[in-house]
Parts: sequence; C-alpha cells; structure tokens
Amino acid sequence: MNRLADIGWEDFERLSFDAKRPYLEREEGDGLPYHTLFAQQFDRALLERLCALANRIRFINKSKEGALYLKNVLAHKRAMLYFSQPSSRTFLSHLAACQILGITTGSVRDAATSSEFKGESKEDSIRTFSSYFDMIIMRSPERGLAEKMAWELSNSDRPIPILNAGSGKDQHPTQALLDIYTLLRSFENAGGIDGKTVTFCGDLMRGRTVRSLSYLLTNFRDVKQVFVAPQELQVPADVVMILAKKGISFEVCDNLRDAVKVSDAVYMTRIQDEWDSSKGASAKIDTSRFKFGAEELKLLKPTGAILHPLPRRDEIATCCDRDPRAMYWRQMRNGMWIRAALIAATFGFERTIMDCGY
Ligand code: CP
Repeated sequence: MNRLADIGWEDFERLSFDAKRPYLEREEGDGLPYHTLFAQQFDRALLERLCALANRIRFINKSKEGALYLKNVLAHKRAMLYFSQPSSRTFLSHLAACQILGITTGSVRDAATSSEFKGESKEDSIRTFSSYFDMIIMRSPERGLAEKMAWELSNSDRPIPILNAGSGKDQHPTQALLDIYTLLRSFENAGGIDGKTVTFCGDLMRGRTVRSLSYLLTNFRDVKQVFVAPQELQVPADVVMILAKKGISFEVCDNLRDAVKVSDAVYMTRIQDEWDSSKGASAKIDTSRFKFGAEELKLLKPTGAILHPLPRRDEIATCCDRDPRAMYWRQMRNGMWIRAALIAATFGFERTIMDCGY
C-alpha cells in the first residue's frame, strides 16, 4: 500500500520533490519506495541499500540452487511492462529482472496495439492493467504521466506500484540507479564516488538520464559535475538550479578534451533528435567536438570510467569498446541487477533476500 490516497492530485502535483517523497514510500515505514517516479526519491542511504541488495541478488544467482531460490521469491506476482516509447535495454532488463525473481510478465510495447488505439484513456488503460497485474513498469513520451498514473491507481480499488522506466525528457530514475551502481562498482577500490569529477557530454538539454543522474550524484560528498555540450544542447536551467541551491561544484563548458583530462568518469550521451521541434533541426548543430574516440581515450586517467546510457550512435568510437575503462556494456547488465533489487524491495523482500542462507 502507499500514502498517495491521502492527497488530491492538484495538491500533490504542486508539492516539491522533497515533499512528494513520503507519499511514495511503502506504508511499512522501511523507507523503501512503493512508487518509483523520480530520482529525488533516493538519498545516499537508500542508494547504498539498493546497491547492496543488487550485489546480493547477483551473488545468489551465480549458483543453480541460488537462482532457483530467487525464482521462487516473487513467483506469486505479475508485472506489466507498458512501454509506449521504443526501448531495448530498459524493457529487456526489467523483463530479465522479473524473470530472476520469478515474476510473470505481460507487455504492451505500442499503444497502437492496445485499446488506446480505439480511444481508451491512459487512466482507463492503467486501471485495466491493474486488474491483471501487481506492478506496472511504464515508459512514456509524456512528462509526468507516471506520476499521474501512480496517483490514479493509488486512488482506485486496485492500488499497485508504478515504476517509471522513462518519462518524457524529464526523468529516468532506474537508469540513474544503474549508473550509480556502475560508478560505485567502478570506484570500489578507489574511494567510491565521493570526491570524483563526473563529466556529462552530448545532448544534455533533452537527456532525461542526465537530469536523473545529476541529481543522484548530489547525494555524494564533493562530487564535481562538468557539462560539455554545444550551446543549443547544454544542460537545462532546472538542473543547474538544483546544483547551485545545494552548493554542488559544477562547470558548464564546450571542450571535451579539457574535461576528460580532469575527469574520473565521462558520461557520453546521444543526440536525442526524436525530440526535434522541426525535422532535421539537430542535424544543423555541429556536434563533431562532442565525441569520445582514440584521442580522448589517451587523455583519460588510468582509473577513469566511460559510461553511456546507450543506445549510442557515433559519440563513442567502437575502438574504445575493449578498453578496460569502457563501462557501458557492464552498465547495461548492471541495470538488470539493480532493477531486480528495486522490484524486490518494492514488494517488501529486501530483508528476505539479504538474510537468506545463500
Ligand atoms: N538507456 C535506455 O533507456 O535504453 P533503451 O532506450 O534501449 O531502453
């Protein structure tokens, strides 16, 4: 259960992220999320808890006995994957996470194949899914839709949790969780994330993963954030405002090579031309200096890490793929483990898994 039934939609919508957070937690008072909607729900303690659970699931799953144990943990649950925007990684890693935990799944990957095509509202669609499933994992091009749907369900007679798997240009909280999990693992023997410099490069204006990860990084001590992009695609004002308000050190610039030299992690992103207001608008922007290749690899610290939420186009040259600092393939697989952890925690199985004998 959750607390979103205690407040009207308009009152909830106008709250700050911090004020919204308690409404989205599990009623059991364990501090874990019930609905996962935005990055601001996660503080450092919660991130570390989820990463520890992901490590535990990863370890248990190594043996056949452990994998069979995990497959039984949530065998009584069903999850709906409702994706009305294209996806490979987020869809498949959530699917694989459900399979690890024994959750049965259903999916809609295109509203044109559901009764939305016949004019059914999104509210009615979600209500329909909740009749058959115990969780909805949803991706939508619409900003704030996951929030609205979470409120709708919490105020129905079938309240079930919603996981936001990407909403408009604004949030991609589970991607940010896997990015943090990857950074924690990358810097496990190098003092963790504290004190590191993280450079974001590419389409920072429209990259929802950037907004969510930039926020999660504010949970760590003395992390500097550097934003490298063409002027037209620079980091949006709301992200900068949060950093300024929290007193986080950051820099906005357009020289990737200079940034790489001082970075511990470089987070490359694709040009998100699917959001172009007129066809071909992005193609007119000179992005040639915002690509990571052999020259940038030479400048990166020996302990550095290259991340990318993927899919990539040409912003990371394939010659980097076999470098031990290229984390983007591991990052993708890490998504499966941290999403399994989040789903297990959402259903209240954190302690069961942490304390099991495997
Ligand atoms: N990173 C990410 O969201 O990838 P997909 O769009 O393939 O899910």
